[in-house]
Order: sequence, then structure tokens, then C-alpha cells
Amino acid sequence: MNPKKLARREMLERCIVRGLLVGGAASSHQQLLAMWQQSEAQAAKPTPTEVLGPFFKKGAPNEKNLRKAGAPGFPLRVAGKVYNTRGERVQGAQVDMWQADHQGRYDVQGYSYRTKLTVEGEAEYTLETIMPGHYSDRPAQHIHYMISAPGHRTLITQIYFATDPWFEGNPDKNYGKRGLVGNRELVRPVTLFEEGTPRAAVNFDIVLEKA
Ligand SMILES: [Fe+2]
Repeated sequence: MNPKKLARREMLERCIVRGLLVGGAASSHQQLLAMWQQSEAQAAKPTPTEVLGPFFKKGAPNEKNLRKAGAPGFPLRVAGKVYNTRGERVQGAQVDMWQADHQGRYDVQGYSYRTKLTVEGEAEYTLETIMPGHYSDRPAQHIHYMISAPGHRTLITQIYFATDPWFEGNPDKNYGKRGLVGNRELVRPVTLFEEGTPRAAVNFDIVLEKA
């Protein structure tokens, strides 16, 4: 993509989303361009894979809000965009996401905390859910993903949360503890915002490889 054609706003957005720039920080155009180029180099890398795990279930509904009114657990919004390795947005992706409830239990009977989103338009997805709980086999909070799109390889991955006590305040140092998390990139920064009630937010852009 030609940087001259890229709007400053999108450059800023990508740098913030990828954790290169703290929101609101003033940067010269040169600094921003350098960060954007770094960001593009990252974007060219396909998203790291993770194990499927035993709790995937086919047939989840296309549901953007998994958080039922009054349900326990800390509200969480997960959002991101789907790209290919050339930095272009991928249309028509389907994103399965599944996670444990706040007590670390998967719903194996029904479809609580499971969805299969269809990503349309700007290739962005947003999911309202809760922070997953811990469970003993895999004691780092995580959300599972399976992403498929026409002409691309299906990607199976997971996200983790930098605020998780499992990382002891230092995900850079501790992400590999007990071999649980395969890639530092999958441990995502968590921000807080307020929309009625306090909520956590995580961005997770996905980069798919061509089939
Ligand atoms: Fe899991």
C-alpha cells in the first residue's frame, strides 16, 4: 500500500491498534510514518496459530452479543479487522469464537459464549462478551478463534490478556510460562472504557494467508 495514499487517521488507528502508539500521543508525520512502516511489516505476517483445544463446537449462531443481561463476569468488547498479508481487508470472513464463562467452564450442551460471526463491509468484527475465567488445564484466560475466508487458509488461534494475573504483570517475560502461550503477539493489551458500566476492551486484528 502506498503510504501517500493512506490517510493519517488510518495510520494512527493502525499504530494504536497494534500497540505501537499510545492513544493521544503527539507525533510528527515522520515518526508516524516510521511507526506505520513498522506496523505494515508486522501486518504482512500471518497471525500466529494456536491449538484448537477440546471445546470447539460446530454450529454456533451468528451472535454479536454473548453477554446476557445481568450475567456475571466483567464485560469485555473484542474487536478487530481481517486482513490478508498484503494489508488489504478480507471480505466475507467467518469468525468462530468460543470461550469459558467467568468460572472457567465451557458450555458443551448449548452455545453460551460461542459465536460464528460473519464479517462484512469494512471487514471489521465486534463482539460483546465477558472476560473468560481460568480453568485448571489452561490457567491463562483466553478466547479461541477459528477464521475462514474464501481463498484463504483457515486460521486457528487464541487471544490472551496482558492483564491476566497469570502473566504476573510482565507478559514479555512470562508469556512462555509452562509452555501455555506460544507467541507473545497473542497476549493483547487490555484497555478500560465506560459505556454505562465499566468494560474492558481488546483489539485483535487477524492476518490470513492465501490458500
Ligand atoms: Fe480453552
